[in-house]
Amino acid sequence: MKIWIALVLATFAVCATGQCPQCSTMKWAMCDVPSCQCSLTMGVNVHQPLNCTALVPKCFLMKTEMYRAKAGLSTRSGGKPVESAFVDNDGIYDPDCETTGAFRAKQCNNTDTCWCVNSAGVRRTDKGDASLKCEKLVETYWVRLQLKHKAVSTPLNSSVLQSAIATAIQARYFLDLTHVKEEVQYDPDARLIFVDLKKEKTDRTTDLSRVAYYMEKDVKLDPLFLEQARLTPVVNGQTVEMEDILVYYVDVDPPTFTMKKLTGGIIAVIVVVILAVVAGLLVVFLARRREQKYSKAEPREMEAL
Ligand SMILES: *[C@@H]1O[C@H](CO)[C@@H](O)[C@H](O)[C@H]1NC(C)=O
Ligand SMILES: *[C@@H]1O[C@H](CO)[C@@H](O)[C@H](O)[C@H]1NC(C)=O
Ligand SMILES: *[C@@H]1O[C@H](CO)[C@@H](O)[C@H](O)[C@H]1NC(C)=O
Repeated sequence: MKIWIALVLATFAVCATGQCPQCSTMKWAMCDVPSCQCSLTMGVNVHQPLNCTALVPKCFLMKTEMYRAKAGLSTRSGGKPVESAFVDNDGIYDPDCETTGAFRAKQCNNTDTCWCVNSAGVRRTDKGDASLKCEKLVETYWVRLQLKHKAVSTPLNSSVLQSAIATAIQARYFLDLTHVKEEVQYDPDARLIFVDLKKEKTDRTTDLSRVAYYMEKDVKLDPLFLEQARLTPVVNGQTVEMEDILVYYVDVDPPTFTMKKLTGGIIAVIVVVILAVVAGLLVVFLARRREQKYSKAEPREMEAL
């Protein structure tokens, strides 16, 4: 009898672990028998069903990461595609999601401080209190990805690199190539690759933020995919590894940060520039002094000889 029960349990265990395929687009998902529906644990007893043939909505991913107490994103900096473009300087928060996985327009991170976000979940207004009104979710229709690749031994052929990147975006992130609008740009000296993902301003089905978020994880942390291979395009047999990524968001309506906040950032940049200039001058000054010392010392040494 005991042996029989053990056998039944063992068969059950094999079925439970062996029956369902895993979720290829989300490494943390659980796919349980008998339905094999994969779901993501986003909170205590919050199990979000997933479609594993598509990228998981960014809102669900952020919620999961907060739940899993993951570290925040690193601070990012760089140049803009248009004046109204902005980057995510806040990092991660615990978002409120619609059942579809879309971000709610107003986010409060479980506090009394709230702000309005775009469809990529990135803050686009100043922070306010709980009474803040966010009329609608403003769509992000253009995302610029600025990738920096690691140093390579032989220079990369830019046309081959450009098509390798475009192909990777289609194959890895399931994004139709029609959304890679302008040609992929490449600056070999700076090792920078610029990719512009765009959609029609009225398009509410294509979600560019998922592609950007999966790519950020691929470059900065670990891939969200079950398969942990990195985003490494191969150019003429040479594997190109990425070392950094910066994402710009362009919304259908420009963001409404006040100038007060923006000048804070500009002042900080100016201070850094001034510090760099002062440091540079100091180096030049010290080098000159040393030179002078040497040139003064030399004749005396000559005399001594
Ligand atoms: C899952 O995503 C794929 C790709 O976007 C889509 O074609 C399919 O209809 C989705 N399935 C469900 C059940 O929503
Ligand atoms: C959200 O709250 C968490 C703590 O619960 C904090 O670590 C995080 O920085 C907050 N994020 C933002 C964008 O305010
Ligand atoms: C780059 O590759 C393309 C296509 O393979 C080729 O036509 C072109 O001549 C190459 N350019 C250089 C500078 O090697």
